[in-house]
Amino acid sequence: MTLAERLNQIPVDERFGVGILSGTSVDGIDVGLARLRGSGETTSIDLLAFQTFPIPPAIRARILKNCDLNAARLDELSQLNFLVGELFADCALRFLKRHRPQRVDFIASHGQTVWHNPKRETIGKFRVGSTLQLGNGNVIAHRTGILTIWDFRSAEFVFGKEGAPLAPHLDFVLFRHPTKNRLLLNIGGISNITALKANAKKDDVIFFDAGPGNVLIDKAAQRFFGKPFDRDGKFAAKGRVKDDLLRLLLQEPFYQKQPPKSTGRELFTDAYFQRILRLAKGLSPNDLLATLVALTAESVATQARKFVLPKMPIDEVIVSGGGAKNKTLMKMLSEKLSPARVMRQDELGDAPIPAKAKEAVLFAALGNELLSGKSASMTTPALLGAISFPP
Ligand SMILES: Nc1ncnc2c1ncn2[C@@H]1O[C@H](COP(=O)(O)OP(=O)(O)O)[C@@H](O)[C@H]1O
Ligand SMILES: [Mg+2]
Repeated sequence: MTLAERLNQIPVDERFGVGILSGTSVDGIDVGLARLRGSGETTSIDLLAFQTFPIPPAIRARILKNCDLNAARLDELSQLNFLVGELFADCALRFLKRHRPQRVDFIASHGQTVWHNPKRETIGKFRVGSTLQLGNGNVIAHRTGILTIWDFRSAEFVFGKEGAPLAPHLDFVLFRHPTKNRLLLNIGGISNITALKANAKKDDVIFFDAGPGNVLIDKAAQRFFGKPFDRDGKFAAKGRVKDDLLRLLLQEPFYQKQPPKSTGRELFTDAYFQRILRLAKGLSPNDLLATLVALTAESVATQARKFVLPKMPIDEVIVSGGGAKNKTLMKMLSEKLSPARVMRQDELGDAPIPAKAKEAVLFAALGNELLSGKSASMTTPALLGAISFPP
Protein backbone atom coordinates (compact mmCIF):
# COMPACT_ATOMS: atom_id res chain seq x y z
CA MET A 1 0.00 0.00 0.00
CA THR A 2 1.28 3.47 -0.76
CA LEU A 3 1.38 6.09 1.92
CA ALA A 4 -1.40 7.99 0.16
CA GLU A 5 -3.56 4.85 0.22
CA ARG A 6 -2.91 4.41 3.92
CA LEU A 7 -3.95 7.99 4.59
CA ASN A 8 -7.07 7.47 2.49
CA GLN A 9 -8.13 4.65 4.80
CA ILE A 10 -8.54 7.09 7.67
CA PRO A 11 -12.25 7.84 8.02
CA VAL A 12 -13.30 11.43 7.37
CA ASP A 13 -16.56 12.24 9.18
CA GLU A 14 -16.32 10.18 12.33
CA ARG A 15 -13.23 8.86 14.06
CA PHE A 16 -12.58 6.77 17.13
CA GLY A 17 -9.42 7.93 18.90
CA VAL A 18 -7.58 6.77 21.99
CA GLY A 19 -5.91 9.59 23.95
CA ILE A 20 -3.12 8.63 26.33
CA LEU A 21 -0.86 10.59 28.63
CA SER A 22 0.96 10.92 31.91
CA GLY A 23 0.86 14.42 33.43
CA THR A 24 3.45 16.40 35.37
CA SER A 25 2.32 14.69 38.58
CA VAL A 26 3.46 11.34 37.12
CA ASP A 27 0.63 9.81 39.16
CA GLY A 28 -0.88 7.49 36.53
CA ILE A 29 -1.41 6.87 32.84
CA ASP A 30 -4.77 8.14 31.66
CA VAL A 31 -6.32 6.37 28.67
CA GLY A 32 -9.59 7.46 27.08
CA LEU A 33 -11.51 6.42 23.98
CA ALA A 34 -13.53 9.13 22.29
CA ARG A 35 -15.82 9.26 19.29
CA LEU A 36 -15.13 12.43 17.36
CA ARG A 37 -17.45 13.77 14.71
CA GLY A 38 -16.38 16.67 12.56
CA SER A 39 -13.50 18.93 13.45
CA GLY A 40 -12.62 22.39 14.67
CA GLU A 41 -14.91 24.33 16.97
CA THR A 42 -18.01 22.34 16.05
CA THR A 43 -16.49 18.90 16.77
CA SER A 44 -18.86 16.67 18.67
CA ILE A 45 -17.07 14.53 21.22
CA ASP A 46 -18.32 11.55 23.21
CA LEU A 47 -16.25 9.70 25.76
CA LEU A 48 -16.79 5.95 25.35
CA ALA A 49 -14.36 4.52 27.90
CA PHE A 50 -11.75 5.75 30.35
CA GLN A 51 -9.22 4.13 32.65
CA THR A 52 -6.17 5.20 34.64
CA PHE A 53 -3.29 2.74 34.87
CA PRO A 54 -0.71 2.83 37.66
CA ILE A 55 2.89 3.59 36.79
CA PRO A 56 5.24 0.90 38.14
CA PRO A 57 7.22 2.53 41.00
CA ALA A 58 10.61 1.78 39.42
CA ILE A 59 9.59 3.55 36.21
CA ARG A 60 8.06 6.46 38.12
CA ALA A 61 11.26 6.92 40.12
CA ARG A 62 13.28 6.88 36.91
CA ILE A 63 11.03 9.47 35.27
CA LEU A 64 11.21 11.81 38.26
CA LYS A 65 14.98 11.43 38.49
CA ASN A 66 15.33 12.36 34.84
CA CYS A 67 13.11 15.46 35.18
CA ASP A 68 15.77 16.88 37.47
CA LEU A 69 18.55 18.85 35.82
CA ASN A 70 21.17 17.66 38.28
CA ALA A 71 20.18 14.00 38.39
CA ALA A 72 19.20 13.28 34.76
CA ARG A 73 21.42 11.03 32.65
CA LEU A 74 21.60 10.89 28.90
CA ASP A 75 21.63 7.08 28.72
CA GLU A 76 18.58 6.85 30.97
CA LEU A 77 16.68 9.54 29.03
CA SER A 78 17.29 7.75 25.76
CA GLN A 79 16.17 4.46 27.27
CA LEU A 80 13.17 6.06 28.99
CA ASN A 81 11.93 7.31 25.64
CA PHE A 82 11.55 3.67 24.56
CA LEU A 83 10.45 2.42 27.98
CA VAL A 84 7.63 4.95 28.22
CA GLY A 85 6.65 4.00 24.65
CA GLU A 86 6.48 0.33 25.72
CA LEU A 87 4.53 1.23 28.87
CA PHE A 88 2.00 3.38 27.00
CA ALA A 89 1.58 0.69 24.33
CA ASP A 90 1.01 -1.90 27.06
CA CYS A 91 -1.62 0.31 28.73
CA ALA A 92 -3.31 0.92 25.37
CA LEU A 93 -3.45 -2.81 24.64
CA ARG A 94 -4.82 -3.64 28.11
CA PHE A 95 -7.38 -0.86 27.70
CA LEU A 96 -8.51 -2.19 24.31
CA LYS A 97 -8.69 -5.75 25.62
CA ARG A 98 -10.89 -4.67 28.47
CA HIS A 99 -13.20 -2.24 26.67
CA ARG A 100 -13.26 -4.03 23.29
CA PRO A 101 -14.24 -1.09 21.08
CA GLN A 102 -15.59 -1.96 17.65
CA ARG A 103 -13.21 0.40 16.00
CA VAL A 104 -10.12 2.45 16.78
CA ASP A 105 -8.75 4.72 14.09
CA PHE A 106 -5.82 6.24 15.91
CA ILE A 107 -3.92 6.63 19.14
CA ALA A 108 -2.91 10.13 20.24
CA SER A 109 -0.15 10.06 22.81
CA HIS A 110 1.13 13.05 24.70
CA GLY A 111 3.93 11.01 26.27
CA GLN A 112 5.62 12.13 29.46
CA THR A 113 7.12 15.60 29.72
CA VAL A 114 10.57 15.57 31.30
CA TRP A 115 11.71 19.04 30.28
CA HIS A 116 9.96 22.18 29.08
CA ASN A 117 11.85 25.37 28.48
CA PRO A 118 10.03 27.85 26.24
CA LYS A 119 12.65 30.54 26.88
CA ARG A 120 14.70 31.18 23.74
CA GLU A 121 18.45 31.05 23.91
CA THR A 122 20.60 32.51 21.14
CA ILE A 123 23.17 30.05 19.82
CA GLY A 124 25.02 31.19 16.72
CA LYS A 125 22.38 32.48 14.32
CA PHE A 126 19.59 30.46 15.96
CA ARG A 127 17.21 31.19 18.80
CA VAL A 128 15.92 28.01 20.37
CA GLY A 129 13.62 26.94 23.14
CA SER A 130 12.72 23.32 23.70
CA THR A 131 10.29 20.85 25.14
CA LEU A 132 10.76 17.10 25.55
CA GLN A 133 8.04 14.46 25.88
CA LEU A 134 9.21 10.87 26.18
CA GLY A 135 7.34 7.84 24.83
CA ASN A 136 8.38 7.08 21.29
CA GLY A 137 5.38 6.93 18.95
CA ASN A 138 6.96 4.33 16.68
CA VAL A 139 7.06 1.93 19.60
CA ILE A 140 3.37 2.57 20.31
CA ALA A 141 2.31 2.24 16.64
CA HIS A 142 4.24 -0.97 16.13
CA ARG A 143 3.20 -2.66 19.38
CA THR A 144 -0.49 -1.81 18.97
CA GLY A 145 -0.79 -1.94 15.17
CA ILE A 146 -2.62 1.39 15.33
CA LEU A 147 -1.65 4.65 13.66
CA THR A 148 -0.14 6.81 16.39
CA ILE A 149 0.08 10.58 16.64
CA TRP A 150 2.59 12.01 19.09
CA ASP A 151 4.88 14.98 19.72
CA PHE A 152 2.05 17.49 20.04
CA ARG A 153 4.04 20.29 21.58
CA SER A 154 7.04 21.00 19.41
CA ALA A 155 5.48 22.50 16.25
CA GLU A 156 4.37 25.71 18.03
CA PHE A 157 7.98 26.41 18.98
CA VAL A 158 8.77 27.11 15.35
CA PHE A 159 6.34 30.04 15.57
CA GLY A 160 7.95 31.38 18.72
CA LYS A 161 5.18 29.95 20.93
CA GLU A 162 5.33 27.51 23.81
CA GLY A 163 3.41 24.35 22.89
CA ALA A 164 1.63 24.68 26.23
CA PRO A 165 -0.93 24.82 27.65
CA LEU A 166 -2.82 22.76 25.04
CA ALA A 167 -6.01 22.40 27.10
CA PRO A 168 -7.56 25.64 25.75
CA HIS A 169 -8.40 23.87 22.49
CA LEU A 170 -10.70 21.41 24.25
CA ASP A 171 -11.97 23.98 26.76
CA PHE A 172 -13.01 26.17 23.85
CA VAL A 173 -14.71 23.32 21.97
CA LEU A 174 -16.55 21.86 24.97
CA PHE A 175 -17.14 24.63 27.50
CA ARG A 176 -17.87 27.93 25.79
CA HIS A 177 -21.26 29.12 26.87
CA PRO A 178 -23.79 31.39 25.15
CA THR A 179 -24.33 33.67 28.18
CA LYS A 180 -21.81 32.86 30.92
CA ASN A 181 -18.22 34.01 31.24
CA ARG A 182 -16.24 31.01 32.33
CA LEU A 183 -12.84 30.29 33.73
CA LEU A 184 -11.64 26.72 33.25
CA LEU A 185 -9.04 25.84 35.82
CA ASN A 186 -7.16 22.56 35.61
CA ILE A 187 -5.10 21.78 38.69
CA GLY A 188 -2.64 19.01 37.91
CA GLY A 189 1.00 19.17 38.91
CA ILE A 190 0.87 22.63 37.32
CA SER A 191 -2.31 24.69 37.16
CA ASN A 192 -3.58 26.23 33.97
CA ILE A 193 -6.36 28.65 33.13
CA THR A 194 -8.57 29.09 30.08
CA ALA A 195 -10.84 32.15 30.16
CA LEU A 196 -13.86 31.90 27.85
CA LYS A 197 -16.11 34.88 27.64
CA ALA A 198 -19.74 34.24 26.73
CA ASN A 199 -20.00 33.24 23.09
CA ALA A 200 -16.21 33.41 22.72
CA LYS A 201 -14.49 33.27 19.36
CA LYS A 202 -11.15 31.50 19.17
CA ASP A 203 -9.30 34.83 19.21
CA ASP A 204 -11.02 35.87 22.45
CA VAL A 205 -9.63 33.00 24.49
CA ILE A 206 -7.15 33.96 27.20
CA PHE A 207 -5.01 31.10 28.43
CA PHE A 208 -1.89 30.44 30.45
CA ASP A 209 -0.22 28.20 32.98
CA ALA A 210 -0.73 29.86 36.35
CA GLY A 211 2.00 28.11 38.36
CA PRO A 212 2.15 25.32 40.89
CA GLY A 213 -1.00 23.24 41.09
CA ASN A 214 -0.21 20.26 43.27
CA VAL A 215 3.51 19.97 42.67
CA LEU A 216 4.65 21.77 45.83
CA ILE A 217 1.76 20.46 47.93
CA ASP A 218 2.73 16.90 46.93
CA LYS A 219 6.37 17.49 47.86
CA ALA A 220 5.33 18.70 51.33
CA ALA A 221 2.90 15.79 51.83
CA GLN A 222 5.67 13.37 50.93
CA ARG A 223 8.35 15.05 53.01
CA PHE A 224 6.35 15.58 56.23
CA PHE A 225 3.60 12.97 56.14
CA GLY A 226 5.05 10.20 53.97
CA LYS A 227 1.98 10.39 51.70
CA PRO A 228 2.01 10.87 47.92
CA PHE A 229 -0.45 13.79 48.31
CA ASP A 230 -2.65 15.54 50.88
CA ARG A 231 -5.86 13.56 50.39
CA ASP A 232 -8.88 15.91 50.32
CA GLY A 233 -6.61 18.65 51.71
CA LYS A 234 -6.97 17.25 55.24
CA PHE A 235 -3.48 18.11 56.47
CA ALA A 236 -3.73 21.63 55.09
CA ALA A 237 -7.15 22.04 56.71
CA LYS A 238 -5.51 21.64 60.11
CA GLY A 239 -2.94 24.36 59.44
CA ARG A 240 -2.97 28.13 59.30
CA VAL A 241 -1.75 30.18 56.36
CA LYS A 242 1.42 32.09 57.17
CA ASP A 243 0.76 35.39 55.39
CA ASP A 244 4.27 36.79 55.30
CA LEU A 245 5.64 33.56 53.81
CA LEU A 246 2.79 33.54 51.28
CA ARG A 247 3.60 37.11 50.24
CA LEU A 248 7.24 36.18 49.77
CA LEU A 249 6.38 33.14 47.65
CA LEU A 250 4.05 35.22 45.49
CA GLN A 251 7.02 37.31 44.40
CA GLU A 252 7.99 34.52 41.98
CA PRO A 253 8.49 36.44 38.68
CA PHE A 254 6.57 33.81 36.65
CA TYR A 255 3.27 35.07 38.14
CA GLN A 256 3.94 38.57 36.75
CA LYS A 257 4.65 37.44 33.18
CA GLN A 258 2.06 38.27 30.53
CA PRO A 259 0.12 35.34 29.05
CA PRO A 260 0.24 33.14 27.15
CA LYS A 261 2.97 31.42 29.18
CA SER A 262 3.84 27.96 30.39
CA THR A 263 5.86 26.38 33.15
CA GLY A 264 6.65 23.01 34.69
CA ARG A 265 8.75 20.97 37.05
CA GLU A 266 11.90 22.72 35.76
CA LEU A 267 10.87 25.79 37.81
CA PHE A 268 9.18 24.10 40.77
CA THR A 269 12.05 21.73 41.52
CA ASP A 270 13.24 19.99 44.67
CA ALA A 271 15.73 22.83 45.08
CA TYR A 272 12.85 25.35 44.88
CA PHE A 273 11.04 23.38 47.57
CA GLN A 274 14.17 23.29 49.74
CA ARG A 275 14.36 27.09 49.49
CA ILE A 276 10.76 27.30 50.68
CA LEU A 277 11.62 25.03 53.61
CA ARG A 278 14.44 27.35 54.61
CA LEU A 279 12.07 30.35 54.46
CA ALA A 280 9.48 28.37 56.42
CA LYS A 281 11.82 27.52 59.25
CA GLY A 282 9.94 26.83 62.46
CA LEU A 283 6.59 26.42 60.69
CA SER A 284 4.59 23.30 61.53
CA PRO A 285 4.04 20.85 58.63
CA ASN A 286 0.30 21.60 58.69
CA ASP A 287 0.91 25.36 58.49
CA LEU A 288 3.35 24.83 55.65
CA LEU A 289 0.79 22.77 53.74
CA ALA A 290 -1.91 25.36 54.37
CA THR A 291 0.45 28.05 53.05
CA LEU A 292 1.32 26.03 49.93
CA VAL A 293 -2.37 25.44 49.23
CA ALA A 294 -2.89 29.20 49.66
CA LEU A 295 -0.04 29.77 47.19
CA THR A 296 -1.78 27.67 44.54
CA ALA A 297 -5.10 29.43 45.20
CA GLU A 298 -3.68 32.96 45.44
CA SER A 299 -1.43 32.65 42.39
CA VAL A 300 -4.51 31.62 40.40
CA ALA A 301 -6.66 34.40 41.89
CA THR A 302 -4.02 37.12 41.44
CA GLN A 303 -3.52 36.24 37.80
CA ALA A 304 -7.25 35.92 37.17
CA ARG A 305 -7.63 39.48 38.52
CA LYS A 306 -4.69 40.78 36.57
CA PHE A 307 -5.08 39.05 33.21
CA VAL A 308 -8.76 38.11 32.95
CA LEU A 309 -10.92 40.54 34.94
CA PRO A 310 -9.90 43.59 32.87
CA LYS A 311 -11.37 41.77 29.83
CA MET A 312 -14.45 40.14 31.37
CA PRO A 313 -16.21 39.55 34.66
CA ILE A 314 -16.04 35.90 35.73
CA ASP A 315 -19.36 34.14 36.37
CA GLU A 316 -18.16 30.58 36.84
CA VAL A 317 -14.89 28.86 37.64
CA ILE A 318 -14.93 25.21 36.57
CA VAL A 319 -12.19 23.20 38.21
CA SER A 320 -10.72 19.91 36.98
CA GLY A 321 -7.58 17.87 37.66
CA GLY A 322 -6.64 16.13 40.90
CA GLY A 323 -6.54 19.49 42.73
CA ALA A 324 -10.33 19.73 42.45
CA LYS A 325 -10.47 16.98 45.08
CA ASN A 326 -8.50 19.07 47.57
CA LYS A 327 -11.33 20.57 49.66
CA THR A 328 -9.08 23.08 51.40
CA LEU A 329 -7.88 24.34 48.03
CA MET A 330 -11.42 24.55 46.64
CA LYS A 331 -12.56 26.51 49.70
CA MET A 332 -9.72 29.01 49.35
CA LEU A 333 -10.41 29.37 45.63
CA SER A 334 -14.07 30.13 46.38
CA GLU A 335 -13.10 32.82 48.86
CA LYS A 336 -10.47 34.42 46.69
CA LEU A 337 -12.44 34.33 43.43
CA SER A 338 -15.74 35.49 44.90
CA PRO A 339 -18.25 36.56 43.58
CA ALA A 340 -17.50 34.02 40.84
CA ARG A 341 -19.07 30.65 41.52
CA VAL A 342 -16.30 28.07 41.93
CA MET A 343 -17.26 24.45 41.25
CA ARG A 344 -15.79 21.12 40.30
CA GLN A 345 -16.32 20.24 36.65
CA ASP A 346 -18.26 17.18 37.77
CA GLU A 347 -20.73 19.41 39.64
CA LEU A 348 -21.68 21.07 36.39
CA GLY A 349 -25.14 19.74 35.49
CA ASP A 350 -24.40 19.38 31.79
CA ALA A 351 -20.65 18.58 31.90
CA PRO A 352 -19.79 17.10 28.51
CA ILE A 353 -17.17 14.70 29.91
CA PRO A 354 -16.03 13.66 33.40
CA ALA A 355 -13.15 15.76 34.72
CA LYS A 356 -10.79 12.84 35.15
CA ALA A 357 -10.92 12.08 31.42
CA LYS A 358 -10.30 15.64 30.28
CA GLU A 359 -6.68 15.36 29.26
CA ALA A 360 -7.07 11.98 27.55
CA VAL A 361 -9.97 13.42 25.55
CA LEU A 362 -7.87 16.51 24.82
CA PHE A 363 -5.22 14.46 23.05
CA ALA A 364 -7.82 12.42 21.16
CA ALA A 365 -9.31 15.75 20.02
CA LEU A 366 -5.88 17.10 19.03
CA GLY A 367 -5.17 13.91 17.06
CA ASN A 368 -8.50 14.36 15.30
CA GLU A 369 -7.54 17.90 14.30
CA LEU A 370 -4.25 16.73 12.78
CA LEU A 371 -6.00 14.00 10.79
CA SER A 372 -8.45 16.66 9.61
CA GLY A 373 -5.50 18.72 8.42
CA LYS A 374 -6.40 21.51 10.82
CA SER A 375 -4.36 23.46 13.30
CA ALA A 376 -5.46 23.00 16.91
CA SER A 377 -3.04 25.69 17.97
CA MET A 378 -4.73 28.69 19.59
CA THR A 379 -2.22 31.20 18.32
CA THR A 380 -0.33 29.78 15.33
CA PRO A 381 -1.07 27.92 12.07
CA ALA A 382 1.06 24.97 13.31
CA LEU A 383 -0.29 21.47 12.72
CA LEU A 384 0.17 19.76 16.06
CA GLY A 385 1.57 16.24 16.18
CA ALA A 386 3.67 13.77 14.20
CA ILE A 387 2.38 10.50 12.73
CA SER A 388 3.84 7.00 13.05
CA PHE A 389 2.32 4.22 10.96
CA PRO A 390 2.15 0.60 12.10
CA PRO A 391 3.65 -2.02 9.79
N1 LIG B 1 -8.35 13.05 46.76
C1 LIG B 1 -7.40 13.96 46.50
N2 LIG B 1 -7.19 14.97 47.38
C2 LIG B 1 -6.25 15.91 47.15
N3 LIG B 1 -5.46 15.92 46.06
C3 LIG B 1 -5.61 14.93 45.15
C4 LIG B 1 -6.59 13.92 45.32
N4 LIG B 1 -6.51 13.09 44.24
C5 LIG B 1 -5.52 13.57 43.44
N5 LIG B 1 -4.98 14.68 43.99
C6 LIG B 1 -3.87 15.49 43.47
O1 LIG B 1 -3.94 15.49 42.07
C7 LIG B 1 -2.68 15.13 41.50
C8 LIG B 1 -2.89 14.44 40.18
O2 LIG B 1 -3.67 15.26 39.40
P1 LIG B 1 -3.70 15.15 37.82
O3 LIG B 1 -4.85 15.98 37.36
O4 LIG B 1 -3.65 13.72 37.41
O5 LIG B 1 -2.34 15.88 37.47
P2 LIG B 1 -1.32 15.66 36.25
O6 LIG B 1 -2.03 16.13 35.04
O7 LIG B 1 -0.16 16.52 36.65
O8 LIG B 1 -1.00 14.19 36.24
C9 LIG B 1 -2.03 14.27 42.57
O9 LIG B 1 -0.62 14.33 42.47
C10 LIG B 1 -2.53 14.94 43.84
O10 LIG B 1 -1.73 16.03 44.17
MG1 LIG C 1 -2.22 12.60 36.32
